[in-house]
Amino acid sequence: MKTLKSIGYSIELGSDALTQLNQFFKKETYSSYFIICDENTLTHCLPTLLSSCKALKDAEVIEIESGEASKDIEIATHIWQTLIELKADKQALIINLGGGVVSDLGGFVASVYKRGIDFINIPTSLLAMADASVGGKTGIDLGTVKNVIGTITQPKCVFINFDFLHSLPERHVNNGLAEVYKMALISDANFWKKLSTQKNITNLESVITKSISLKNTIVKKDPFEKNSRKALNFGHTIGHAIESVLLGTKNELLHGEAIVIGMMAEAWLSYQKKLVTKTALHDIISVLKATFNPQTILPSYMDAITTIALNDKKNSKNEIRCVLLNGVGDYKIDVVITPAQIKKALEYYNSRIIEN
Ligand SMILES: NC(=O)c1ccc[n+]([C@@H]2O[C@H](COP(=O)([O-])OP(=O)(O)OC[C@H]3O[C@@H](n4cnc5c(N)ncnc54)[C@H](O)[C@@H]3O)[C@@H](O)[C@H]2O)c1
Repeated sequence: MKTLKSIGYSIELGSDALTQLNQFFKKETYSSYFIICDENTLTHCLPTLLSSCKALKDAEVIEIESGEASKDIEIATHIWQTLIELKADKQALIINLGGGVVSDLGGFVASVYKRGIDFINIPTSLLAMADASVGGKTGIDLGTVKNVIGTITQPKCVFINFDFLHSLPERHVNNGLAEVYKMALISDANFWKKLSTQKNITNLESVITKSISLKNTIVKKDPFEKNSRKALNFGHTIGHAIESVLLGTKNELLHGEAIVIGMMAEAWLSYQKKLVTKTALHDIISVLKATFNPQTILPSYMDAITTIALNDKKNSKNEIRCVLLNGVGDYKIDVVITPAQIKKALEYYNSRIIEN
């Protein structure tokens, strides 16, 4: 069992996390409980949660459909309406039981309902355990523009019970590992080395703990992303644009899958800007390629990808601002890149994917 201290709240990790949740309910007083989950976490995680926490016996369960499409204003409105119908007051607690979609959406809903009510995160996907459940970024998408509406509001507590991973599909395990590799690349060269030398990551609990602890350190220094927290966006300028463009198409990618492509393209940009050596670039590309087996990007998507990158939240003065690597284990924020450079980076990426 491990406890990490974050910005005014704690992150409880390990086999004892649900016992800690019971302690939390003993200390805090709420008028009512609302558990937000999707159909998968309702089936695989809710029974464990309810049987371990007697305080939740009268909790209302609000189920959303799984998938990125639920990070939408209509779904948020549906939850707000349900909260009003069920007379949720300022002392109500929202419990986000799910992956990053549930915690982003549920956190956002809570952060503005009646000008803000408390919420806790009980992440059930690897991505949410290693990344999304911590740091207070909440939000929804607007059309195809990802996470463009949201708040930075910290949860009251985060409870990470690794046993929930047993039912997580393999594709979603890899999806979450993408953010773990990102965390290593931007902040810990030794961690990167450890990850790169493992053929299969079998020690999930330890890599998740390391990843969330690295993220927590970054977030605590800069909660509102004025400066160093921007580092967490490595791979995301291009990755988010790819994710958005492919959303709803037959080539749709999961968040982490798109971020892997973004990291490979942005590693090449880092090399072009003389921030990483050729050897480091080749190491990054071959490790990410072998671990995640990403697919090529069709040339017909390139224009749409650059158009979306021009709309990225991190931009300023109509320039695309990107986080690049500054060697392995370090980063450089606010590097200006152009649409033409993004296209070149993706052409390089495609050329490395098709070679043996
Ligand atoms: N707020 C942040 O800091 C932050 C950081 C990274 C990513 N994100 C966001 O997170 C989202 C992606 O998160 P995700 O990958 O967890 O997606 P997700 O919430 O859609 O979960 C992935 C899939 O796994 C299922 N699932 C989750 N836990 C399960 C379990 N224990 N057993 C069986 N199935 C389970 C879900 O139902 C879903 O089908 C994106 O919207 C991304 O923008 C947010």
